[in-house]
Amino acid sequence: MKTILTGIRSNSVLTLGNYLGALLPMVRLANKWSGSGEYQVNIFVPDLHSIISDVDGNLQENIVRTIKYYLAAGLLVNDNVHIYRQSHVPAHSELCWILNCVATMGETSRMIQYKEKSKGQESCNVGIFDYPILMAADILLYSAEYIPLGEDQFQHIELTRNIAMRFNHRFGEIFTVPVATAEQVKFMGVSDGIRIRDLLNPEKKMSKSTKAENSKIMLDDEPERAAKKIMSATTDSLGIIKFDMWAQPGISNLLQIEALVNNVPLQDVISTWAGQTRYGELKRKVAESVSSMLAEFQAKFAEISDEEVYALLDRGEAYANQVASAKLFEAQKAFGLR
Ligand code: TYM
Repeated sequence: MKTILTGIRSNSVLTLGNYLGALLPMVRLANKWSGSGEYQVNIFVPDLHSIISDVDGNLQENIVRTIKYYLAAGLLVNDNVHIYRQSHVPAHSELCWILNCVATMGETSRMIQYKEKSKGQESCNVGIFDYPILMAADILLYSAEYIPLGEDQFQHIELTRNIAMRFNHRFGEIFTVPVATAEQVKFMGVSDGIRIRDLLNPEKKMSKSTKAENSKIMLDDEPERAAKKIMSATTDSLGIIKFDMWAQPGISNLLQIEALVNNVPLQDVISTWAGQTRYGELKRKVAESVSSMLAEFQAKFAEISDEEVYALLDRGEAYANQVASAKLFEAQKAFGLR
C-alpha cells in the first residue's frame, strides 16, 4: 500500500488557514483513499516540532484538541488510518540525527521558514534550523509518497526529496522518495498550492501569530464573530469580481475560501461570480458559508471524548513504532551502526 502522510503542529487553536489549507484537504483525501485498499493514511501530531516555539497553554491538551479537529472535520477512521504522536515514536529523533549527517548547512540555511522564524531573534534555537530535517525523518520513516500540505511547506518536501536521493545514491535504495510538489498538488486535487490570506492584509498568509484579531479566523471563533470578520475583510477599489491573486488578493481569497468550504472546484466559484460587481454580496455569501461550517464543526468537536482520542493513539503508536523502527534499522545498518 502507498502511504499518504501529514501533520499539523498543535501549539494553539488552529486558524481557518490551517484548516482549509491542510487539515480539510487531508481529511478529504484520507476519506477518499483509505477504504480503497491502495493507500494507508498516517496522521501524526509533530509535537517535537511544537517545542521550537512557545506553546499556548498545555501541550498535552493541545495535542488532544488537534486530533479532535481531524475527527470533527469528518475523518473516517478505519484500519488503514493511523494516528500517532511524533514524540511517542523515538525513531523520528534518531533518524533525524542520521539525516543531519547527510543534509548540508547550505541547503538547510536556504529554507524560507527558517529565515523568517529566525529573523530579528537575538538568539535562535537550533531546533528552528533543524526543523526540516526532522520533517524529512517523519516522512521517510514511513516511505510516504504523498504529503498534503499548504504551499508554505513545499520547500521542505523538496529538501526531503534531495536528502532521500542523496542517501539512496550513497547506500542503495533505502528510502522511498516522495513525489515532487507539482504532483502533490495534483494528487490533492487543487489547481495550485493553497494559501489562505490574512483578511486585513491579503498579501500575507493568514497566520495564528498575527496580532490583529480581525485578520484571522480561529476554529473556536463564534460563528457570528467569524461572519463579521469576513464582512470586514479588505478588498480593493476595482469594483469587479475576478480571481487574480496579484491584483485582487482580497477578493481572490474570498473566492478560494468559498470553494474550499463548500468542497466545489475553485473554477466553478470563479465562473459563478465572474463579472459581478457587488463585493458586499460575495462577502455575505462567504460569511454565511464559513459561519455554518464552523457551527457544524464545533458541534461535532464537542461530542468527541478524550478517551476516544487516546484509544486511537494507542493503536496508532503501536503501528508507527513497528514500521518506523524497521526503517530506522535499515538506515542505521547503512552507516554501519548496526
Ligand atoms: P504547521 O503546523 O506549521 O502548519 C500546518 C499546515 O497548515 C498549513 N497552513 C496554511 N495553508 C494555507 N493557508 C494558510 N494561511 C496556512 N497556514 C498554515 C501549512 O502549510 C501546513 O500544511 N511542518 C509541518 C508539520 C510537519 C509535517 C511533517 C507535515 C512536521 N513534520 C511531516 C507533513 C509531514 C507544518 O507546517 O506544520
